[in-house]
Amino acid sequence: MTETQVAIVGAGPAGLVLARLLKRRGVEAVVLELRSRDYVEGRVRAGVLEQRTVDLLDEAGVAERLHREGMVHQGVELRFGGRSHRIDLSGLTGGRKITVYGQQEVVKDLIAARLESGLPLHFEVSDVTVADVESERPAVRFTHEGSEVELRCDVIAGCDGFHGICRPAIASALRVFEREYPFAWLGILANAKPSSEELIYANHANGFALHSMRSPEVIRSYLQCRPDEDLDEWPDERVWEELQTRFELDEGFSLNEGEIFDKGVTPMRSFVVEPMQHGRLFLAGDAAHIVPPTGAKGLNLAVADVEVLASALESFYGSGDTAGLDAYSEQCLRRVWRVQHFSSWMTSMLHRPPGQDPFEAKLQLSQLEYVCSSHAASTTLAENYVGLERV
Ligand code: FAD
Ligand code: DHB
Repeated sequence: MTETQVAIVGAGPAGLVLARLLKRRGVEAVVLELRSRDYVEGRVRAGVLEQRTVDLLDEAGVAERLHREGMVHQGVELRFGGRSHRIDLSGLTGGRKITVYGQQEVVKDLIAARLESGLPLHFEVSDVTVADVESERPAVRFTHEGSEVELRCDVIAGCDGFHGICRPAIASALRVFEREYPFAWLGILANAKPSSEELIYANHANGFALHSMRSPEVIRSYLQCRPDEDLDEWPDERVWEELQTRFELDEGFSLNEGEIFDKGVTPMRSFVVEPMQHGRLFLAGDAAHIVPPTGAKGLNLAVADVEVLASALESFYGSGDTAGLDAYSEQCLRRVWRVQHFSSWMTSMLHRPPGQDPFEAKLQLSQLEYVCSSHAASTTLAENYVGLERV
C-alpha cells in the first residue's frame, strides 16, 4: 500500500493543472494516467485559452512557452450570407483577450514541469478502480509496471475525462442532464499559412465551418459533418473544396491550402452531472461535463473547476476547514451552466441541422444579424467568449 494526500485520476488538462496548483500550495498528490506520455501529448483537441486560463497557467509557472508561441487575439469573425462581421472582443470587454495555443502544447508544458519537479505522475496504469469514497480514507487501486497497487488518500480527484471510471463509480448519487446533436465536427490540421489573423466562425447553407490556427505555418479547421461520418469519404481535395465553399465571400476569398497531416471526427454533446462530488470523490473537467466545442470552452472549464478544487484543498489542509470542499460542486456548477448555455447558443446559431425548416433558417439569420449589429448582443457574445471572471 502507498499513501498520498490527493490521488488524481487522469493526466489531461484538469489533472495536470490540479497537480501543479497543489504542488504550489504544499499539498501532496499522485497522478495516474491510463495512456502513454506520447499518446497524451499527441492528442489533438482544443485551441482557445481564455485570459483567465492563461493567467492561471502563468501563476502556476508553466506559461513561458505559451507566451512565446501562443497567438493573442482581440477579436473573432462571424461569416454568413457572403459577408464578414468582426466581433471586437477586447473593445467590448474592457481589453480582455484570448490566446490561441493548442491543448496538446499546454499538456506538454504541464507534463514537463511535473516530471522536472520529480513528483509522481504514472503513465500506462491499468485496472483503475476507486474504493471507500464515502469514508475519510478512500483508495485508488491500479496496476503499474506489472504490480497491483493500492493508493490510500484523503481525497480523490476524478479528472479522467468523459470515458473515465470515476463518474460511473458514483453514478447512483448523480443526476444526469444531457443533449445530443445531429451533427459532428470533422477537424483537420494542415501545413498552411492562416488565411485570416483571427478565427472565423462561418454559417453556410452547407453547414458550419471554423478557421483556426496553431502557428503562423499551421492551420486548424473544422467542418460540420454527420456524427457517423466516414473519413474515407473525405479525401483532402474534398475537405479543401468544402472549406473554400463554406468560407466564400461576395467580395471574393481564397483559403490558403497545404498538406493535411491530421484528420478526425469529434462528436457533439452537452452533458452535466449534479452534484460534481460524492463523499471524498470530486469530479472535474470532462468527467463531470461536456460542452459542444463551438464556444471553445471545454478546456477552459476544466481549468476553472480545478482552480476551485485547489483552493478548497488548500483550506482543508491549512486549517481543516471543509467549507470550500462542501461548496465545490455548487460553486463550479454556476459557471458550468453559464458555459453550457453559451455553448449551446453558439452551436444552434452557427450550425445547419439536417432537414432545418425554412422558418428556423430565417430565425437563425436574424439572430446572427442582431448579434453583429447590436452593441448589447455583440457584448453578450464577447463577454461569454473571453470568459467569466475568476472567482
Ligand atoms: P481529458 O482531456 O479527457 O483528460 C482525461 C485523462 O484521463 C485522459 O488523459 C485519459 O487518458 C485519462 N483517463 C481516462 N480514463 C482513465 C482511467 N481509468 N485511469 C486513469 N486515467 C484515465 N474543446 C474545445 O473547446 N474545442 C475543441 O476543438 C475540442 N475538441 C475536442 C476533440 C475531442 C476528440 C475531444 C474528446 C474533446 C475536445 N474538446 C474540445 C474538449 C476539450 O479537449 C476537453 O474539454 C478537455 O480535454 C477536458 O480536459 P480533462 O482533463 O477534463 O479531460
Ligand atoms: C478551436 C476549437 C474550438 O472548439 C473553437 O471554438 C475555436 C478554436 C481550435 O481548435 O483552434
